[in-house]
Amino acid sequence: MAKQAVEKTEYARGLEGVVTNETAVGYVDGVKGQLVYRGYSIEDLAEHSSYEETAYLLLFGKLPTQQELDGFKAKLVSYRSIPGQVIDVLKALPRSAHPMAMLRTGISALGCFNPKADQATVENDTEIGFKLIAQMATVTAAVARIRKGVDPVDPDPSLDHTANFLYMAGGEKADPFITRVMDVALILHADHGNNASTFSCMAVNSSLSDLYSAIVAGIGSLKGPLHGGANEQALKELLSIGSQDRVDDYVKKRLEEKKKFIGFGHRVYKTYDPRAKILGRYSKEVTERKGMDHLHETARRLEEQVVAEFGERGIFTNVDFYSGTIYHSLGFEAPMFTTLFAVSRIAGWVARILEYLPENRLFRPRALYVGELEAHYIPIDQR
Ligand code: CMC
Repeated sequence: MAKQAVEKTEYARGLEGVVTNETAVGYVDGVKGQLVYRGYSIEDLAEHSSYEETAYLLLFGKLPTQQELDGFKAKLVSYRSIPGQVIDVLKALPRSAHPMAMLRTGISALGCFNPKADQATVENDTEIGFKLIAQMATVTAAVARIRKGVDPVDPDPSLDHTANFLYMAGGEKADPFITRVMDVALILHADHGNNASTFSCMAVNSSLSDLYSAIVAGIGSLKGPLHGGANEQALKELLSIGSQDRVDDYVKKRLEEKKKFIGFGHRVYKTYDPRAKILGRYSKEVTERKGMDHLHETARRLEEQVVAEFGERGIFTNVDFYSGTIYHSLGFEAPMFTTLFAVSRIAGWVARILEYLPENRLFRPRALYVGELEAHYIPIDQR
């Protein structure tokens, strides 16, 4: 029996080029290599802003006044603590569980403790959004510690968001330079167009499910090695190369095996990812301070080689390349890297969900059917 397509419309595999909604949250210009949040360039924000201020900007569409920023920060501080039962859930998970799976479970558990989770209004979800921005950091820090077999550390209300996160994860206050590097990394990862995880969040929320479910979907999507999971893989590759002088052999082998280079290439950017440029500068500085220059030098050599090979085809370093060297220098284990991405990206996920909610329309794409249409049931004993 001939197979036939019943949907004659054009289709885009992987939704490439498909526009699903209007947004004023952020814009990626893949040709120029530009990223803006609410009109502000990522370079400007990385230079002058803080994570809390950037999250406010994404959520409310304007830079806050001092009073508004103070109010927003106080709100986040008030929401930092999580129920002890959620910590118990995390502790009950096997030590072998991936941190992103633990984070996904922790956020899902948090939803079970919020009796207002199912009220899908902008007002209610804005409040939950604040909670999730604060608590994504708390759950991630708890995951980092539970994996090491030590108890989570309570939040310190006197510290800003990033300083408190580093304190909860590491158990001691980080120095101002390290805190600033982490803050910049969080600013740079906060939003990035209709990427796979953002789309996943929005698709789930468009059924008017609940914000926790939407964010859990985003975490699940972000975890993949083609998306946020690439930072962990990129660092593992760099560590396996070991030193600058072994890069050329590594590149040769990888080309022979026809394997992709992790931390390179992007669906939208066909030039340098602007976030990679900024992170590259911080990677040099932080690795030098931590006596890990060899790691940055290995990365630089790999970047040169891969760009020389693939640059003409629009393949350059992406955000996941240098974030790994930075997080490694800050003392995070590689499996934790993608959770750090989530600690930041929660702001963009929530901003875009809230923007879409007032005129919500269910996400419901179609598939091109290429299967049978006239099959007849055959009893099991005759097959
Ligand atoms: N190394 C070598 N070749 C590559 C790479 C790479 N990193 N990326 C793409 N290509 C080649 C690919 O082999 C293909 O070649 P051909 O046409 O000869 O078959 C062509 O470029 C198109 O690749 P694609 O995978 O179909 O393109 P895409 O638009 O789906 O690529 C990507 C986007 C991110 C999935 C891909 O570049 C990739 O797999 N990169 C490595 C993983 C990675 O670093 N991911 C992080 C992405 S940025 C952070 C984020 O968004 O979360």
